[in-house]
Amino acid sequence: MTKSPQHPASRSDSGKGPAHIRLSAPAKINLYLEVLGHREDGFHELITVLQTIDLADVIELRVREREPAIPVGRADVCFELTGDSSAVTAVVEGEDQAAGRVPDGPENLAVRAAVAWLHAAGKQDEVGIDLRLQKNIPAGAGLGGGSSDAATVLRGLDQLLGHSEGPALAPLAAELGSDVAFFLVGGTALCTGRGENVIPLAEPDPFDLVLGFPDFTIPTPAVYAALNAPALTRAASPPRELQKAWANRLAGATPSDLEQFFRNDLEDPACSVRSELVDLLAPLDAHLSGSGSTLFLYGSDTPTTRPACRRALMRFARHRSRKR
Ligand code: C5P
Repeated sequence: MTKSPQHPASRSDSGKGPAHIRLSAPAKINLYLEVLGHREDGFHELITVLQTIDLADVIELRVREREPAIPVGRADVCFELTGDSSAVTAVVEGEDQAAGRVPDGPENLAVRAAVAWLHAAGKQDEVGIDLRLQKNIPAGAGLGGGSSDAATVLRGLDQLLGHSEGPALAPLAAELGSDVAFFLVGGTALCTGRGENVIPLAEPDPFDLVLGFPDFTIPTPAVYAALNAPALTRAASPPRELQKAWANRLAGATPSDLEQFFRNDLEDPACSVRSELVDLLAPLDAHLSGSGSTLFLYGSDTPTTRPACRRALMRFARHRSRKR
């Protein structure tokens, strides 16, 4: 796994090794998302191409002595959540509330990742961890923020405490969520299965995009349920063939090429969960990221003058794809 060069770990006072690390946890968009069918385990079999972008949360990890009062066998992870209030608590109503709120306790995926890593490494009784998450990526938005936080915690603990001999990260990531394994790699990648089989792809040149954040969130399970997909009957093409096809498509791809390849089978079901999306996607020629609610457009032309945007009270932000 590659280490992020721009976020070095600081040394501990004792000089024994790094005790603190600060890492950026990027968001993603889906350049392509095809649902092959509904699986017996309740998940959906996918072919998706994911791309990290420059919108990111920040994860800080500090290794310290374990609190003696914590019972043996229980991991000691102290969690602090900070950040943009629009990312921490989305403006949502009614039953969508849970989807838009970032958990500030042990149920947060970043904390679960830290606990899972400590147990897998057998270090739950050896050290305590301070975990600070600065949330900039909106939740319930199809940008993979929670999954990226979890993957970044796994990478961070591996760098601080694993010293290349820690537990394998991919199985831990797959346990935590379908997109988590992608964020261990980042950049541009083809993901199959329920999303956890990750094949890194050669990356297109960095490109601009505009994200549009409607004032509602969409829970992913509701979108998959609305898809009403048939049972999985056909297998995906062998990974090697898919990889070759996507490598050809992406080599030298311009944003207008990416536009041509775009597909998202979750757009229609997301529109049936939140009908307001219909009036946003089509008039803007925008795409939905994953299960939404974030929209994106290739290029840097912020379409705030178009009537649909004025009606929707959407917030727009310019971003750029981010390489591995
Ligand atoms: O794996 P993750 O926790 O991110 O998935 C959230 C929900 O999205 C799942 O509980 C499931 O309802 C749905 N999902 C799915 N098929 C996938 C990925 C997610 O049905 N491949």
